Amino acid sequence: MGNTIVVLTPVVHGLVKLAGLTPQTMEIEPGTLMNIWVPKETVTKNDDGDFVYVPPNKPAVLLLHSFGLDGIFTWFLQVLALTKDYSVYVPDFLFFGGSITDSTERSASFQARFVAKGLEKLRVEKVTLVGLSYGGMVGFKMAKMYPKLVKSMVMSATVIELTESISRDSYKRLGITKWSDLLMPETVDGLKYLFCAAFYNFPWLPDFVYRDILETMYTNRKQRNELLEALVVPDNDASDTHFSQMIHLLWAEDDVIFTLDLATTMKKQLGENATLDSIKDAGHLVPLEKSSAYNKRLKCVLERGTKYQRADHKY
Ligand SMILES: *[C@@H]1O[C@H](CO)[C@@H](O)[C@H](O)[C@H]1NC(C)=O
Repeated sequence: MGNTIVVLTPVVHGLVKLAGLTPQTMEIEPGTLMNIWVPKETVTKNDDGDFVYVPPNKPAVLLLHSFGLDGIFTWFLQVLALTKDYSVYVPDFLFFGGSITDSTERSASFQARFVAKGLEKLRVEKVTLVGLSYGGMVGFKMAKMYPKLVKSMVMSATVIELTESISRDSYKRLGITKWSDLLMPETVDGLKYLFCAAFYNFPWLPDFVYRDILETMYTNRKQRNELLEALVVPDNDASDTHFSQMIHLLWAEDDVIFTLDLATTMKKQLGENATLDSIKDAGHLVPLEKSSAYNKRLKCVLERGTKYQRADHKY
């Protein structure tokens, strides 16, 4: 049986290339490599054949992926919808896709620093940050650490900080004892359970597809388990919820991992700069499951953002 992912990957990558992105591998520092999809027109070569990056020529959008997939598998449906009007950047976090480090750090802040350094090399100065799940948690860190870089945020299926009490509530709902039980499945049944929890309505797939996904997508197991362990913080350590950016929470009504109730609480904590919008009949991985409803709302937020930006220039 051919490997489904081996067949699917060039199809997805081909579509994304047609939409105008190209993959780049950049050395962030010795021992740390970033794989990131960037707008083709921002990549040039100098006389020595080295890559030289030019700033984006459209408003930049940064898409930060979930724990279960790499950057492009999480976001290809948004890339296809956005590249006409936006310069889209899709990195793989460390230990996902093609990004790797020999550092022993595992925190979300470490991933945030990694992404910000990559964007600096790519000469991106301002982004709207779009985060899903783990990508949202790293995104909230980025927003705090780099307020000039992160102009506004669109967040789904995520939390500002994964505290012990939020984790306990999710564990109870999901019947697990730690995040890796759900997010690092070792068997076909485990992976089926993850998809069942992550989607409102996941289509039937033959077992060999699940086996293929387990084999190809769940690499760097030791490091990813460490990422999950580093993510959960004591309730008292949770950082403050004051952000200078506008934050648009875009929620799936049927997210069983981080519920709409949790999003409502977050909106209250975030205060006047947060909005909350929800999408029906959708689960945790809402950009994949209900891509057209999600994209419509995302574009709306982005359009409003660029209008404000133009107004800023005028006055
Ligand atoms: C909302 O954003 C403004 C402007 O960046 C900031 O001054 C204010 O403190 C923010 N409010 C909250 C509740 O975070």
